[in-house]
Amino acid sequence: MERTYLMVKPDGVQRGLIGDIVGRLERKGLQLVGAKLMHVSLEQAKKHYAEHEGKDFYERLLTFITSGPVFAMVWQGDDAVAAARQLIGKTNGLEAAPGTIRGDYAIHTNYNLIHGSDSHDNAEREIGIFFRESELTSYEKVI
Ligand code: CMP
Repeated sequence: MERTYLMVKPDGVQRGLIGDIVGRLERKGLQLVGAKLMHVSLEQAKKHYAEHEGKDFYERLLTFITSGPVFAMVWQGDDAVAAARQLIGKTNGLEAAPGTIRGDYAIHTNYNLIHGSDSHDNAEREIGIFFRESELTSYEKVI
């Protein structure tokens, strides 16, 4: 069992896509164990995007992710990181395959609707930036 950190970005929230995105993840078989609508602070944004510091799009990233509410989520399941990234699609909406979230709804690299952790270690690091463990549930799926 693995956990992953997913975040509907401000463009996805404003376009009313939270429900669609959550539905896709549920139907895939992933299990939602934590979620909240929140504003990302500059401090959280800098920690989250630390690996991109110095890149030409870094400042734009910080500005965008702090510009409005995001829907932060923790999902769990077997290979949750890979399963979620498969549903999300490639970073650039124009390159993402139809049928993926970005392939269906995004045409941009910066405004690409959703973030998904790219590794198990980053997932745990990112969960720690946005959630306290006490905010997360744990339950056995019975069906
Ligand atoms: P995300 O999954 O949130 O992780 C880093 C983000 O940087 C990425 O999605 C894109 O939204 C954004 N980004 C903007 N420009 C680029 C770029 N040229 N290459 C990769 N990511 C980019």
